[in-house]
Amino acid sequence: MHIILVGPPGAGKGTQAANLVDEFGVPHIATGDIFRSAIKNKTQLGKKAKEYIDQGQLVPDEVTIGIVEERLSEDDCQEGFILDGFPRTVTQADALNDILADLNIKLDTVLNIEVSEEEVVRRLSGRRICSECGASYHLEFNPPQDKNICDKCSGELYQREDDEPETIKERLEVYKEQTEPLINYYKEKGILKSINGEAVPQEVFTRIKQELS
Ligand code: AP5
Repeated sequence: MHIILVGPPGAGKGTQAANLVDEFGVPHIATGDIFRSAIKNKTQLGKKAKEYIDQGQLVPDEVTIGIVEERLSEDDCQEGFILDGFPRTVTQADALNDILADLNIKLDTVLNIEVSEEEVVRRLSGRRICSECGASYHLEFNPPQDKNICDKCSGELYQREDDEPETIKERLEVYKEQTEPLINYYKEKGILKSINGEAVPQEVFTRIKQELS
């Protein structure tokens, strides 16, 4: 099962990717997570990515494509993957076609999770992440017992810098200009399935499973 998750920031791609990984046992490859890990470890990649992520801009294609190519070439991706947050531009999508052709992998489905801008803002402004284990919470929809502490590992919770209101606005603009065209791109290839993402996470997952069956 080789799946791509697309949708605006905060659509629930990471949340649903975790459900898909539990259900199907395939690796979850999230370019945002790869960049955040590089930022945390203060690598060269992390320094470069931070300049763009903090502004709500995309990390340049030439940086991002190479990273994904390397990851997809690992053995565990042959049987399947959930690609979350990549591709995000038509250039990335074209590059992905070439990478998958070289690896003899066929893309099964592109799942497009649809949510309104209002809902995006609500979800991103309430999101909190554990600084230790990376668990994701929402102060209203999935609250931790203590708003500053992770239920799972007692790590400290923080708000992503790109979840500040001004940066959310910028990310939404970038999404509309650079990523939304991918919806038609994959529709024309006949592999796009759109899901209404405005329901509790378990209901959204049920809808996804229905589309995949
Ligand atoms: P990335 O980390 O990929 O961010 P994003 O696409 O903006 O998506 P998010 O992680 O913000 O949201 P999500 O859709 O995963 O939602 P989540 O499940 O967390 O990328 C960050 C940055 O990295 C980019 O801006 C860019 O700079 C760079 N980057 C990454 N990939 C790149 C690429 N390919 N090319 C270039 N640059 C790249 O849910 C959000 C919140 O809502 C959570 O609190 C959650 O608990 C809650 N929630 C989820 N589902 C529901 C629901 N159904 N009901 C209520 N609440 C819900």
